[in-house]
Amino acid sequence: MRYLRSTTICGMLLLLALGSTCARAETGSDAWLRYAPLEKQAAQKYAHLPASVVVLGDSPLLESAKTELIRGIRGILGRTLRDEKNLTKENTIVLGTLSALQSAFPNLLEHTDLRKDGFLLATEQVHGSECVIVTATNDRGVLYGVFALLSKIERNENVSALHETQQPYAPIRWTDEWDNLDGSIERGYAGPSIFLENGSVRADLTRAGEYARLLASVGLNGCAINSVNADPRVLEDHFLPQLARVADAFRPWGVQLAISVDVSSPKVIGGLDTFDPADARVAEWWSKKVDEIYRLIPDFAGVVVKADSEGRLGPATYGRTPADAANVIARALAPHHGIVFYRAFVYNHHLDWRDSKNDRAKAAYDIFHPLDGEFDDNVIIQIKHGPIDFQVREPVSPLFTGLEKTNEAIELQVTQEYTGQQRHLCFLPPMWKEVLDFDMHAGEHPTPVKDIVAGKTFHRPTGGFVAVVNVGMDANWLGHPLAMANLYGYGRLAWNPNLTSQSIAREWTQLCFGNDPVVVQTISNMLLTSWPIYESYTGPLGAGTLTDILGSHYGPGVESSERNGWGQWHRADHDGIGMDRTAATGTGYVDQYRAPVAKSYESLATTPDELLLFFHHVPYTYVLHSGKTVIQHIYDSHYAGAEASANLIQQWNSLKGRVDDERYAEVLKHLEYQAGHAIVWRDAVCNWFFRVSGIPDQHGRVGHYPGRIEAEGMQLQGYLPFDVIPSEDASGGKAVECAPPAKKCSAAFRFDGAAGKYEMDVEYFDQNNGKSEFRVLVGDRVVDEWAADEHLPAKKPNADSSTRRRITGLALRPGDNIRIEGIPDGGERASLDYIEIQRSPE
Ligand code: GCU
Repeated sequence: MRYLRSTTICGMLLLLALGSTCARAETGSDAWLRYAPLEKQAAQKYAHLPASVVVLGDSPLLESAKTELIRGIRGILGRTLRDEKNLTKENTIVLGTLSALQSAFPNLLEHTDLRKDGFLLATEQVHGSECVIVTATNDRGVLYGVFALLSKIERNENVSALHETQQPYAPIRWTDEWDNLDGSIERGYAGPSIFLENGSVRADLTRAGEYARLLASVGLNGCAINSVNADPRVLEDHFLPQLARVADAFRPWGVQLAISVDVSSPKVIGGLDTFDPADARVAEWWSKKVDEIYRLIPDFAGVVVKADSEGRLGPATYGRTPADAANVIARALAPHHGIVFYRAFVYNHHLDWRDSKNDRAKAAYDIFHPLDGEFDDNVIIQIKHGPIDFQVREPVSPLFTGLEKTNEAIELQVTQEYTGQQRHLCFLPPMWKEVLDFDMHAGEHPTPVKDIVAGKTFHRPTGGFVAVVNVGMDANWLGHPLAMANLYGYGRLAWNPNLTSQSIAREWTQLCFGNDPVVVQTISNMLLTSWPIYESYTGPLGAGTLTDILGSHYGPGVESSERNGWGQWHRADHDGIGMDRTAATGTGYVDQYRAPVAKSYESLATTPDELLLFFHHVPYTYVLHSGKTVIQHIYDSHYAGAEASANLIQQWNSLKGRVDDERYAEVLKHLEYQAGHAIVWRDAVCNWFFRVSGIPDQHGRVGHYPGRIEAEGMQLQGYLPFDVIPSEDASGGKAVECAPPAKKCSAAFRFDGAAGKYEMDVEYFDQNNGKSEFRVLVGDRVVDEWAADEHLPAKKPNADSSTRRRITGLALRPGDNIRIEGIPDGGERASLDYIEIQRSPE
């Protein structure tokens, strides 16, 4: 997608003249901070809102708060607040910290109890005039209060008699970005880095500043900008001033800069012959390096560490522990109040798959639980929400209750690595809510994960929330126009995990698409159903992901999890599927949970269906709580998921004319692609399980595709059939390709159905190493043509590149000759899988 700067086509004058009918270029770059004009009648509600703003004090953050307020009110209500220096007799909006307010007006808001970053919105009489007060203990809280006030107005809530306090649930509310120094982003799906390019920090950091503003608007206060697979060069002396520029871009929004560091840095870039954390020279190196960072960036937040994991070097090199490695850096940071986030994502990726007792899910607990109490107070253990790796369904990590004397943060993933890579719609707050609300049974009272990471359960001084986001230079930040709902949702839950997914979906939709109840209801519904839909065609019953885990992590790749050291096994064979993780007969993972949780997962009877295959190995004929057998559930859920994906298009179509044309078209394109790819998923997974289990689908669907004409069965000119690997990635295991020296090929067949209107789907392979062209003709009439120019993660014809083109309303008569022409380009051979023809819906 192209990168466009935010533009509002209409100037202010035009806007005032035309009110809410004014056209906006909706690129998505404003995300939820569009400040779109309210309808006239809705705006009436704010007629009483003061016409001026007074700021008590001055700081970059208060300046941001004031300019944001003016900008927002101007956009939403078309009014420009006067920026007054002092309070007069008129009603005004007052921004300032509680201490500034109380020194100006001693008895005001006397009993206000606010934590750091929390804020109060209040309507108060001050010197006889009615003021809207936005106050907090710190400037950042005032900024957060302004964003909250603007959100209320944009969502048309009442702000006439305000008295609302909001407090953050935890002090840590961060994002991690996995950007590389060359500007690429690991697991990023929305263009290059907004921070880095060609080995340096970008010259233009405008987007970095805009990103910080977005983060601040939902209360996020820290951001680590580079990949956890950290390049040691970020700590080189000449790089630090560049980092300081990013910190400068973040500062007006109260977002503190952090970086990921490589623990081998003292040796790799520091000139030492060791990086042993127990070596005094190593400690001194970290201390000097950190001092230098703080000299340049006084509000530097801290560092993220990935060590002894997936090939990264770590303390194990010297027989030391994660606590040794974390503490040596933590001690360098402590005098400056900096924090080390040490990631618990440590495991052996060369596990012997033949040993049925081996289990990657156990690694984090096995490694970190024995170290509980050994980490310094400014170390936080950053724990992925599940024990594997951001799969579409996992149980909660048992490590959350494995550390009582250690700070914790939960790590979530906004970037949809295993959940459709922002090509599929997958709104994740419902998944995160399940995790955050899950009771770990660590005490007499409920001990949900949200309380543990916030430090409440075990009385820890700090802790909280981290999400891997990976925004890029795409205008709309994350690629899919609806994907930013995940960043919004993450921020809202990090601020207040007690919010419901429903309210988050609603808020986001209102802010991004306005208050039309039909739009709000439809988009919220699409968001809220999208995770279950995605799960239903990609990862049944807690089996873990069925994506290609060795490559793209995107399309289906059922076998790729098996027989290798990565430990994402689902152990599917001829008879059954699932990992036995029980204490009685399995890997014993279950015992890492507190007794009540362990007990429920140990037993087949009490394990919920959606996690069955995570905890148990069962035959395909095992009957679920739902009454279905496992195999029939796999078939049914994949068919239902593909159908539900198609239904998302219908829901979206109902909004035509109710949302702007630009985003309408962009979302539609994504949903059509998703509906096609859901069928690729459905067929690949169902055919794989049918082949391996030998058990047919009760409903006769699997392996039978009425209306489908295989390309290899057509009359071919130039095109040659070939075997697709793995075979379930193509219909019938085969496709046709236009290989050199052919420059143009065609595949034709005779239509024998009745005369009428039809929908014709062309399944072809859109690789990323060429831009083939396709043309479809009925007789001599060209009915469609397109270029295969999407950037899907595949250089070969497989399930990652398999793509559907739908031609609608096609008039056909019996005997028509239908011909598909392909012109290959580069490594892409205009490969075709099949055509499917169905009657157009009435
Ligand atoms: C996943 C992801 C990697 C990443 C790793 C991590 O495995 O695929 O790209 O480095 O998680 O979280 O460290």
